[in-house]
Amino acid sequence: MRRNKVTVIGAGNVGATVAQRIAEAGLADVVLVDIVEGLPQGKGLDLAEAAPVVGHDARVVGTNDYADSAGSDVVVVTSGLARQPGMSRDDLLAKNAGIVRSVVEQAVHHSPNAILVIVTNPLDAMCHVALQASGFPRERVIGMAGVLDSARFRTFIAEELGVSVEDTHAFVLGGHGDTMVPLPRYSTVAGIPITELLPPDRVAALVERTAHGGAEIVALLKTGSAFYAPAAATFEMVDAILRDRKRVLPCAVLLQGEYGVDGLFVGVPVVLGAGGMERVIQIKLSADEQRAFQRSAAAVRELVDKLPA
Ligand code: APR
Repeated sequence: MRRNKVTVIGAGNVGATVAQRIAEAGLADVVLVDIVEGLPQGKGLDLAEAAPVVGHDARVVGTNDYADSAGSDVVVVTSGLARQPGMSRDDLLAKNAGIVRSVVEQAVHHSPNAILVIVTNPLDAMCHVALQASGFPRERVIGMAGVLDSARFRTFIAEELGVSVEDTHAFVLGGHGDTMVPLPRYSTVAGIPITELLPPDRVAALVERTAHGGAEIVALLKTGSAFYAPAAATFEMVDAILRDRKRVLPCAVLLQGEYGVDGLFVGVPVVLGAGGMERVIQIKLSADEQRAFQRSAAAVRELVDKLPA
């Protein structure tokens, strides 16, 4: 039986760390692709040379040629630009849309049956670009955001209560960004809602910190954005797909009427397995939560409407 194959496009901080996690878990062979000559080859070789010490047999190669990615089971897209000084959000949107469109077209040409996991920001808008560029059904275009946002929320809850992150679960809906919708009543420690364990002002403070979790890291790093937690979150999704685990994870998927939204990628809980996004899980939202969800969806819509045709 052949080992699974994952292509990671973008050999930067997030992409290389995803490649490392996948290889070191022995989950799949990894092809690392980047536009910069030498970069993916160098990182790929470095990762391959770690294999004897770590003790895994996954093959890792770096390349600038999409032919090497042929027959991938999963393609992870992390390629893109970070926002440069003087660049507006809209400039970034247009630039990354161009990059995501081009890499997805090339990747799916060689891997027509792959499942796409999109990581490049602005996430929800990039999922739209990938869906369009691939022509894939919605089940095979999935955005990574909710797992990361929930992981941040879980970290802050566990720290606040002095309990293990393992017993801490969090529920975050909506777009990736300031308008995300953390749901405290579904966020629990060993099944107990955090609303019963923390006063409302502390819950609100943790929610606020979660919504700005990415910006908090950018402010500290100054020269880049988060990558360890984004890579860990991406790995969890790839693992769920390749091992058909039916994990229930919050992901950005194209809604078709669920949660009252049609034709937009927004973060909701889904079942992830060998078929990609196998099912959207619908939960009943309170009037306030539904309003926050709609606000988040409207923010995604605003970005999507600005995408170059
Ligand atoms: N084709 C292939 N690779 C490309 C292309 C392209 N057209 N354009 C850019 N890249 C590569 C860059 O050469 C770089 O190696 O994408 C990589 C991006 O890496 P970093 O700049 O280190 O960015 P990173 O921190 O990995 O973030 C990547 O993930 O979380 C999101 O917001 C983040 O959109 C960003 C993405």
